[in-house]
Amino acid sequence: MDTRVLKVDPSQPDPSVVEEAARAIRGGQLVAFPTETVYGLGANAFDPVAVAKIFEAKGRPATDPLIVHSAHIGQLSMCASQVPPAARQLGLAFWAGPLTIILPKQPQISDSVTAGLPSVALRVPSHRVARALLEMAGVPVAAPSANRFSRPSPTTAAHVVADLDGRIDVVLDGGATDIGLESTIVDFTVDPPVMRRPGGLTLEQIRRVVPEVVAVSEQGSAGVAQVAPGQLTRHYAPQAALTLYMGAAHLAVARVAADTRTLAARGARVGILAPEEDLRALAPELAPLAATGRVEVQPYGSRSDPERSARELFAGLRALDACGVSYILATAIDAGGLGLAVVDRLTRAAEGRVRKV
Ligand code: TXA
Ligand code: MG
Repeated sequence: MDTRVLKVDPSQPDPSVVEEAARAIRGGQLVAFPTETVYGLGANAFDPVAVAKIFEAKGRPATDPLIVHSAHIGQLSMCASQVPPAARQLGLAFWAGPLTIILPKQPQISDSVTAGLPSVALRVPSHRVARALLEMAGVPVAAPSANRFSRPSPTTAAHVVADLDGRIDVVLDGGATDIGLESTIVDFTVDPPVMRRPGGLTLEQIRRVVPEVVAVSEQGSAGVAQVAPGQLTRHYAPQAALTLYMGAAHLAVARVAADTRTLAARGARVGILAPEEDLRALAPELAPLAATGRVEVQPYGSRSDPERSARELFAGLRALDACGVSYILATAIDAGGLGLAVVDRLTRAAEGRVRKV
């Protein structure tokens, strides 16, 4: 299949371009589109044949349910059979925006969207292109992140094309996404409500509106078996083996320097992913190794600016993979605010290789 890439101005999307993509959605085709978090891969949520194509294009297991996107909160009654007052309050406070809410589903949402679960994940994105597309499509749109299964989520149209060219019908190219990692998922089918995935909306922001929301880690042993289905699988992983260094900056930097020297001495090519302060501290150590071509460095934001770290994280992982390194050594930022989601994604990418220093 030929994938059509349609450029669109993210602040003033040309209606005729978006209409072409909306027509593709209505016609049962797959359309990748920018949201304020990451690019999504959309299909008509009421068309099980179109939804099945999403799983095939991504190589995603059918057991991992999709988020349903709507243009307006009002459309949600088409998808959810019951909306508790706290969920409505949270939606009113933060939609349109980087929030996903899990609610009991309406029968017309097909089992292929929800992987047979009795619940459905719902989101109203704020990105102008996403909103225009959803409005013109006139149907709720099921959309996971527009990456091949287990790869980092795409924050540019080029990332989407790198993963899915020839496997999907249309890419709406609205430039780089703003937040850079996925929405925060809050599950209202349990009491108290549980944050199943940290993301672009912080737990602090959520608790200001619904104080009783708990993080998965606070649930105790009974809740552990209930993490979001997709959170159990390999996720956000670069091709290189990533090791995450958590702890005080100077200690993390010292360990990364030592481990880089060891790996480079064995002939390995090593990528360093770190906030810019850490890279500055590492520079004297790494300069001689970088000159040999053994070491590639990639900044992701700054310890003092978690928003920028979030925005640059996935692109940084992809850039290091493109250099062909076999190992990535990454230093973590603090886990407050958006940092919680950043550290979550890095921890998953590390697949257990976490060094606490
Ligand atoms: O920011 C985002 O959320 C992006 C953009 C495109 O909206 N979407 C996204 O979708 O990240 P995806 O499919 O990559 O991640 C959705 C997560 C998965 O881990 C899935 O298991 C979980 O949401 N999920 C979906 N429906 C669920 C349900 N009914 N119950 C529990 N978890 C659910
Ligand atoms: Mg995803």
